[in-house]
Amino acid sequence: CGIVGYIGEQQTAPILIEGLQKLEYRGYDSAGVAIYTEQGITVRKFKGRLAVLEEHLNKHRVPGTLGIGHTRWATHGEPNDINAHPHSSYGGKIAVVHNGIIENYMRLKEWLNTLGAEFTTETDTEVIAHLIEHYYEGDLIQAVQKAVQRMEGAYAIGVICKEEPSKMVAVRKDSPLVVGIGQGENYIASDIPALLKYTRDVYFLEDGEMAVLTKDNIDIFDELGMPVERSIYKVTWDLESAEKGGYEHFMLKEMYEQPKAVRDTLMPRLDDENRILLDELSLTPEQLNHLKKIIIIACGTAWHAGLVGKAAIEKFVRIPVEVEIASEFRYRDPFVDERTLVIAVSQSGETADTLAALREAKMKGAHVMTVTNVVGSRISREAQDVFYTWAGPEIAVASTKAYITQVMALYLIGLKMAELRAQMPQEEITKIVQELKELPSKIQQILDHQEKIKELANKQIHQHHAFYIGRGLDDYTAREGSLKLKEISYVHSEAIAAGELKHGTIALLEKGTLVVAMATQEPLYDKMVSNMKEVKARGAYVIAVTKASLEKEMQQSADVVFSVPDTLDILSPVLSVVPLQLFSYYMAVARGADVDKPKNLAKSVTVE
Ligand code: G6P
Repeated sequence: CGIVGYIGEQQTAPILIEGLQKLEYRGYDSAGVAIYTEQGITVRKFKGRLAVLEEHLNKHRVPGTLGIGHTRWATHGEPNDINAHPHSSYGGKIAVVHNGIIENYMRLKEWLNTLGAEFTTETDTEVIAHLIEHYYEGDLIQAVQKAVQRMEGAYAIGVICKEEPSKMVAVRKDSPLVVGIGQGENYIASDIPALLKYTRDVYFLEDGEMAVLTKDNIDIFDELGMPVERSIYKVTWDLESAEKGGYEHFMLKEMYEQPKAVRDTLMPRLDDENRILLDELSLTPEQLNHLKKIIIIACGTAWHAGLVGKAAIEKFVRIPVEVEIASEFRYRDPFVDERTLVIAVSQSGETADTLAALREAKMKGAHVMTVTNVVGSRISREAQDVFYTWAGPEIAVASTKAYITQVMALYLIGLKMAELRAQMPQEEITKIVQELKELPSKIQQILDHQEKIKELANKQIHQHHAFYIGRGLDDYTAREGSLKLKEISYVHSEAIAAGELKHGTIALLEKGTLVVAMATQEPLYDKMVSNMKEVKARGAYVIAVTKASLEKEMQQSADVVFSVPDTLDILSPVLSVVPLQLFSYYMAVARGADVDKPKNLAKSVTVE
């Protein structure tokens, strides 16, 4: 989501709209503003693109010089007028815009309910507004301080209060927020592009910090309420690179967002004892015991996530899982009945092939679940159960952060099913959950070593072909890596199960042919090394991806080794895909390709 706030002497509405326009890439399913007027706080918010709000405000002006605005990417509650931000408190004193996820919002909501707060939306943000009103005793700063102490999760918020119209308060934790410094006016925004027209002098807030803005002054406080001295940062970026948060491409930015995306998808679904909640799924133990099989349907990258999901669910739940390309599914009269669970995996929730397959499955009586990133998307509306990956908007055509969260989603669904069917001891599930929680920082470690991959890619730009090999889970990751490479760098690439290589594809290997060998699975390691020897004997140049504990050994069998941190074998795809994404990215950059918008491809394909 995107946040903007203004306090000064000019009319705020056009400034908010202008700022939000520059943030539309952060979310665009609804938009709204809250402006302080003589009548109190006036809120205007609408479903749809920002233009809907803009048109309304042009016709029905809301005069005022203090306001906050928001463009939404739905996480809790479908995109509609009511769920759009800003949200007001029950007493009408407070209006809030929020970016992020409040993990404990259900508990807070129940508690506020008992105190008499009435909720009108399905959002986690409304909880913040009520919470601040609850603590308000004539001092907005104190009320916000008390409220944030109760909030768990990631957030950036902008708050205005009817009783204190010369003030705006903003707080951030794990979600971006910048404060823009003007003359006789000041700003907040979730990202720099919103401010560039007005100022290039900004303060970056650190985690847990609060900014208190008046038109002539900005104070920053740390988590304990102590004043903080911050030096001014002068923005030198142009608008285009500012939209990408300073990254050269959306794809790179999105790869760097992966630790956060994984955390956002995982953490709100765990309770304090690391038990998986998944309240959004209606599955019962009876239903699960009745189930004969699961079919995962998806296209492209989402299909690769499905392959990993199959391995995980079969291992955890001991139910047969098929994974099928959505465009193939409906034309072969598949065996589907009311004892089948179909899981449609789709980032956009709009892919025509996946939607058609889902309808076919539903018609045949299957229970239909989806894993999708877009709240209110068509697939989310037609599925009976929806698991949202909270990866945030993915702009680059080549999917990265959405893929990783799809895999996370399927792990969580599998583990929850195992729990419901009493298929695995709770301790074992907890052990896996603990390891899942380690993944964000492990992904970060890989990103921190991206220079090595960049160098590697720069040395391979002359290649016309590449082969990706792996066994088991590594085979699935290899397929995703290979797809990434061909999608964005236009290098012809093929992924093949390592053991299958000798049955045909090996004929294509020549001196210097690039082979990316995945070897993260302990039990398959020796077999994998044999396959690598086969390709090396034919002159291939072998880049191996393995785990840290195997790196040394692996050096004897490959030309270059890149290792990812150790984790449980079953979870390794979340880590081992990251170097492959980076490799494709740097290959594409070095070859001068249009990384974010590869030729012939669309982000969401709505034709069959
Ligand atoms: C398009 C995109 C792919 C994506 C596939 C499925 O082909 O280019 O990156 O994996 O659609 O999209 P979905 O939104 O259903 O996950």
